[in-house]
Amino acid sequence: MSDMPSIEAEGLTRKFGSLTAVDHLSFGVMEGEVFGLLGPNGAGKTTTVRMLACLISPSRGSAKVGGYDISRDSLKVRQIVGILTENPSLYERLTAYENMDFFAEAYGLSDVQEKRNRIKELLEFFELWERRNDKVATFSRGMKQKLAIARALVHNPPILFLDEPTSGLDPESSKVIRDLMKRLSQRKKHTILLCTHRLEDAEKLCSRVMIINKGKNIIVGTPDELRDRIAGQHALQVTLKKLNQKIIEALKELKQVREVNVDNSTSQLIITLDDVKSATPEVVRSIVYTGGMVLSVNVLHPSLEEAYLKLVKEE
Ligand SMILES: Nc1ncnc2c1ncn2[C@@H]1O[C@H](COP(=O)(O)OP(=O)(O)OP(=O)(O)O)[C@@H](O)[C@H]1O
Ligand SMILES: [Mg+2]
Repeated sequence: MSDMPSIEAEGLTRKFGSLTAVDHLSFGVMEGEVFGLLGPNGAGKTTTVRMLACLISPSRGSAKVGGYDISRDSLKVRQIVGILTENPSLYERLTAYENMDFFAEAYGLSDVQEKRNRIKELLEFFELWERRNDKVATFSRGMKQKLAIARALVHNPPILFLDEPTSGLDPESSKVIRDLMKRLSQRKKHTILLCTHRLEDAEKLCSRVMIINKGKNIIVGTPDELRDRIAGQHALQVTLKKLNQKIIEALKELKQVREVNVDNSTSQLIITLDDVKSATPEVVRSIVYTGGMVLSVNVLHPSLEEAYLKLVKEE
């Protein structure tokens, strides 16, 4: 990842009649970053991506993609971005190869050998080479999705917009796509804007995520930051040599302790705290003071999913 901005949005707004789908959205994505766009259904993710890829124009605000203004230099923007839309429109009556060829031509790949190599490389990568001469109409949903991603990459664009790329894919194919995104961002410095509902994907892939709702930016940060800021409350998992009631009672008396859950079979305590950093020494001291022998202490972090659900519920 470099510190050059690849995407810069400034007050981006889009209205459909009286509905404001995207509402003064400002954010930046760095070169080589995988940036996640999260939010509930109808939050404005797809509309944002469509504006950035110059498929629709903003009602207000502006954005630069790869240094080009989306309103003034839309032709340039289209050349340097690849987009996977929610409903990729492939030509069902053409074969996989013909679909790739059609888009390669549309993007101006004129060197025949280069074009062939590129198509072969991509179809092989997505394990579609064997099926290259079959009509897309005969493909499964997952195969179509893979072909649509391959198509978005045909002109080797440095910036990629992927709207729900793993939807409808089996776990194995999802992993292929995740690995691809990792490789593209790490090795080739591609910038990826990823819309997803799969928080696990976001957690694994994104250097930063932005959560939007009703078209507005709610929060931006690394998955770690968001977890800590939103779900704030952490827990400690303490394993003792032996549990006794005195230890538990003493813990419950502590000011910072919210809850103590006991697992007698493993001699483990799950202690929910207001602030794990400041409370840990006191918790350990209390356990030792009441005769407990501490074998291990772990901080339990909430998942991004827990943080996300909490945030959206609060909204
Ligand atoms: N072409 C359109 N005409 C009218 N309203 C639209 C249009 N496109 C989107 N909208 C509205 O804009 C809002 C945002 O939609 P958008 O598709 O951007 O959401 P999203 O975050 O991608 O949701 P999802 O997670 O369901 O894909 C929704 O209320 C939607 O109905
Ligand atoms: Mg969408």
